[in-house]
Amino acid sequence: MNKTIAIIGSSRRNGNTGKLIDTIASKLAIEVIDLADLNISTYDYEHGNMNDDFLPTIKYILTHDNIIFASPVYWYAMSAQMKTFFDRITDLLSVDELKSLGRKLRGKVGFVVSTSMHEQIDDSFINSFTDTFHYLGMNYGGAIHSNCKDTNEFSEPGTEISTFIEKFRN
Ligand SMILES: Cc1cc2nc3c(=O)[nH]c(=O)nc-3n(C[C@H](O)[C@H](O)[C@H](O)COP(=O)(O)O)c2cc1C
Repeated sequence: MNKTIAIIGSSRRNGNTGKLIDTIASKLAIEVIDLADLNISTYDYEHGNMNDDFLPTIKYILTHDNIIFASPVYWYAMSAQMKTFFDRITDLLSVDELKSLGRKLRGKVGFVVSTSMHEQIDDSFINSFTDTFHYLGMNYGGAIHSNCKDTNEFSEPGTEISTFIEKFRN
């Protein structure tokens, strides 16, 4: 089985972030999970949402070693879809029966794929991923960012893609 999996959280599957992750996924021959296809509700302190799609999804993701998170920059931050997914990881830290699952995050390698209308990725965006990886005991594998100057203009970050792909060849 492939050791790597990608998750995309965007308000449009075939937009800029979708095109970037699809380019990478086709080179790596990996699966891309679209959070828009899933019913994952926001964090519930009472854990009344244990039967939505979060648990089967995270269980499946945890069968992989490398996890690529693909998100556009929406207001200096990750997309709401991706943020909801990260919020739900809190279930794995706060529900006793799920804590052993949460510990499986340790040692996984997290990568970030992003697009925005700027050349450089905002610190606020990337830090929210890397700080969370660190908190969860995950390792940070690296990131790739594409500057899509116009909302509908996707520009593939040419040589950077090859460098990014190389991280998975071992
Ligand atoms: C709600 C919203 C908020 C955005 N906020 C930012 C931002 O803070 N910084 C930025 O550079 N681009 C911002 N953009 C532009 C998107 O990051 C950019 O167009 C991105 O490539 C869109 O990816 P998508 O096609 O996957 O949605 C925003 C776009 C939207 C729709």
